[in-house]
Amino acid sequence: MAEPILKWAGGKRAMLDEILSRLPSKSQFNRYFEPFFGGGAVFFALKPDNGHINDINPRLVNFYRQIKQSPEQIITQNKEFDKKYKKQNGLRFNRDYKNQGNDSEDFYYEKREEFNRLRDGVNKCEDPVREASLFLFLNRTCFNGLYRTNQKGDFNVPVGSKWTEIDVLERRIREAHRILQGTTITRQDFTQACEDIGNNDLVFFDPPYPSVRKTGSFEKYHPGGFDYERHRELQQLALELDKRGAYVMITNANDLESDIEKEHYVEKLYSADVLPDSFRKILASGERMINSDSTKRTNIGETDIIVTNFSPFDDQRTFDDFR
Ligand SMILES: C[S@@+](CC[C@H](N)C(=O)[O-])C[C@H]1O[C@@H](n2cnc3c(N)ncnc32)[C@H](O)[C@@H]1O
Repeated sequence: MAEPILKWAGGKRAMLDEILSRLPSKSQFNRYFEPFFGGGAVFFALKPDNGHINDINPRLVNFYRQIKQSPEQIITQNKEFDKKYKKQNGLRFNRDYKNQGNDSEDFYYEKREEFNRLRDGVNKCEDPVREASLFLFLNRTCFNGLYRTNQKGDFNVPVGSKWTEIDVLERRIREAHRILQGTTITRQDFTQACEDIGNNDLVFFDPPYPSVRKTGSFEKYHPGGFDYERHRELQQLALELDKRGAYVMITNANDLESDIEKEHYVEKLYSADVLPDSFRKILASGERMINSDSTKRTNIGETDIIVTNFSPFDDQRTFDDFR
């Protein structure tokens, strides 16, 4: 089983077993679509032969395109970053290294600035390979592997206290490179990325979840962010794809159990009285960011829902079958 390269908010690693054991096997579906790709935990576990992956984030999409084309350059550049980062720390190298030196922080902020200077808008990147290398370096060294931008689109996450060395990721990068050879990579809104989906195609939707807010109102991260209307559009699209004969799986927050959303919008979209009979919903335990300290992050009950328009496939496979 291949593993994701990036740390990504909402990554599905904690729920992989629940997801994989319900999916049809490769011989049962035609093409695989993942319109909200992020770290792609499900895609990498599944290793589909005919994948279509998509995300709205232009730097993330460029990253996977460069992993497909130039993985060795990305590894080499990251080895060079690591040498300097370690040297500037002036401390002994360690896998879960505690970053204690200011010089290495300066190095991080220098690289962050270089990263932000490389892109001018969605389609204008001066040096796509360099951007992908820096994207990986920042993901490995920033606070909790977060990806957040300001109004101008500049990446603004501060330096983290731990980092993953590139040597740990080398094997994953080469494996991802190999899997991505048969994969189409796009940067579109999810609605466009699904236009071509048809009979027997498999689509896995893992949209940004509504997040906890004091007001209890639905998240609007930024203009055009993923608000309630977008979740409703996704639900409508799932019904349409069901009619086209596709296998559809959607994950979302279980907002009945938690106080993520007082209005229980997700429940309203995916309850049995709203969905056609072909759909079913199960509850699952995902990983919630309930503490900014990753060592104190725990699963808290049935945090997620998994909605499908198919029954779990007969040959109940588990995580281990994908190794
Ligand atoms: C919850 S994350 C997916 C996590 C992924 N399943 C994993 O294992 O890491 C949601 C992703 O949707 C992307 N996204 C947000 N709005 C989108 C849109 N309108 N169309 C396509 N992708 C979008 C975000 O950039 C983010 O990477």
